[in-house]
Amino acid sequence: MSFNVSIQPNDINFITTADATLLDSALAAKINLPHGCKNGGCGACKCKLTSGSVTHQEYAPSALSPQELADNTILLCKASATSDVVLDIPGFVNGFPIKTLPSKIESIEKIGSVAILKLKLPANQSFEFFAGQYIDLSHAGKNRSYSLANSPSATGVIELHIRYRQGGVFSEALWNEFKAGQILRFKGPLGSFTLQDSAAPILMVCTGTGFAPLKSILEYMLATNSKRKVHLIWGNFQPEDFYLTELLPLWQQQLDLSVTLCSNENTPADYYHGLVTEYIAQNYPDLSQYQVYACGNPGMIESLYNSAISELNLVKTNFFSDVFTPSA
Ligand code: FES
Repeated sequence: MSFNVSIQPNDINFITTADATLLDSALAAKINLPHGCKNGGCGACKCKLTSGSVTHQEYAPSALSPQELADNTILLCKASATSDVVLDIPGFVNGFPIKTLPSKIESIEKIGSVAILKLKLPANQSFEFFAGQYIDLSHAGKNRSYSLANSPSATGVIELHIRYRQGGVFSEALWNEFKAGQILRFKGPLGSFTLQDSAAPILMVCTGTGFAPLKSILEYMLATNSKRKVHLIWGNFQPEDFYLTELLPLWQQQLDLSVTLCSNENTPADYYHGLVTEYIAQNYPDLSQYQVYACGNPGMIESLYNSAISELNLVKTNFFSDVFTPSA
């Protein structure tokens, strides 16, 4: 059974069915509604249901509170319509068209356990995205989501950061099978994790390859000569897990950027010893004037969100995250 979905106030419409989520139906209609994890974990797809009814599949309680549900807030990635529905998504602007495109492997550079995969786009096709968005890459019948790590201003090539995980479909192919020149298909751009238009200072917080979308945003800020104040706080288990750190001082020459690297083991003297969340709790007791952009381990993001809102005065709407479920 199919239903009409209307997005207000800008009157965008699409069709959904009882057995599809609203988010999947929107993406199938090439309408890039706000979302992050697509799995009921991050709350990035929250919106108001102003008319009609939905049912929800299971989701994390931190993504949608009972109070929000009672106020007709829903999770697009877990809600399916049971009637025609009207959604209120203020400020929603449909982004760049979602395309499925072939790409050619330009290079694979391995730095420790991370591969920097560069894909060359077809010369006769345009591909536009916002810094911070991601793509779904296809191989051997499987799809995996990876953040775009380069600035949208770098046309013709896209860059992905993929950490090796033993037995992972993409990891094993990337380390043992993929070669320059090989064709890979991808779908995108996806996701709503992008730089917000504001002059507020920014805390960028990431773990592991959660660095990738923040690199994209920082390179976009470089390309647009941004003067916003940014503190990048990047955590890894050990110093060997960091990569591309040679870029950091180059960025600092042109941006108002400070950087703190955090590790838990064999921590060098100029790193912070401990978790990114511990560093922030110790150094940012008042985040009321900040925007926070967080990427990486879902546990870190949830813990950061909870402490920033409840203890560090961060305004809820100034927290942006791209929950990254490690996939290989
Ligand atoms: S909770 Fe829906 S996208 Fe994360």
